[in-house]
Amino acid sequence: MGKAWLVASGKGGVGKSTVVSALAQALARQGMRTCVVDGDIGLRDQDALLGLENRIVYDLVDVSNKECRLTQALISPLEQPNLSLLPASQFARAKELDPKAFRRIIAELKKQFDHVIIDGPAGIERGLRGILTAEYDETLIVCTPDDVCIRNAERAVFTMESKKLPRPAVIVNRLVPDLIEAGEMYAAQVVAQTLDLPLMGEIPEDQTVYRALITHVPLMDTDCEAQRALARIAQRMKGENAPLPDYGRQKRAWYHKLFRRRIKEVKRIDR
Ligand SMILES: Nc1ncnc2c1ncn2[C@@H]1O[C@H](COP(=O)(O)OP(=O)(O)OP(=O)(O)O)[C@@H](O)[C@H]1O
Ligand SMILES: [Mg+2]
Repeated sequence: MGKAWLVASGKGGVGKSTVVSALAQALARQGMRTCVVDGDIGLRDQDALLGLENRIVYDLVDVSNKECRLTQALISPLEQPNLSLLPASQFARAKELDPKAFRRIIAELKKQFDHVIIDGPAGIERGLRGILTAEYDETLIVCTPDDVCIRNAERAVFTMESKKLPRPAVIVNRLVPDLIEAGEMYAAQVVAQTLDLPLMGEIPEDQTVYRALITHVPLMDTDCEAQRALARIAQRMKGENAPLPDYGRQKRAWYHKLFRRRIKEVKRIDR
């Protein structure tokens, strides 16, 4: 029986889909049968991130409505047969997904794959509630190192707790080591401590992520620091002991008071 991972966030645009597609590619390359479920109904993007946009015939809502069988909707890159995608619908609305059917779909996928990774929609209301009913083995929250994202992540964690989901671990994305060292950005450990969650991984801000996106090159085929960070997180998902990288350290506890004082004031424009 495989493991189902829900990847969520409090705020949108923090890198969930990027992280999900890269982790799935990394796990598939490490020999794991891996399935990505695009849970962002109406805003699908995993097909594009995995280079499968021209291959979609059926989607998640079609499977949930019994318009096709699960195997008919799954698509794989030709060169990576142990990676599959269950795409989201582009035009359906989140409420069209039957939560009970979704639960059955995830249970079925867990029988066929070692890892089933669900790319959740942002936030706690739209869409996320519909997919909270499935039986997840692990949950991950992607968070960027800023107060707004941390505050929204706290709310998402609360919603997940109220639905009795496993307590999430956090992946901190878009870290800038120079800013952390200068005391101008929260380090990953500080974000995890503030959320009171275990730290699953940390990923630096990396221009290659954007270049890979617009040139349609899978991020895991590039040679960059974000790729190495994601490969390490995939190892940790397999239960291997891959130490966390060091994208800048900060002492804890006192940081909240001192943090704001240490940030250089941004120059205002005189109007
Ligand atoms: N580590 C990183 N370095 C640089 N750019 C990044 C990094 N992670 C993500 N991005 C960029 O941030 C943007 C948003 O990423 P993505 O679409 O994965 O976020 P999301 O959380 O899935 O968004 P949504 O909530 O809308 O689904 C993309 O342009 C992506 O390339
Ligand atoms: Mg997304």
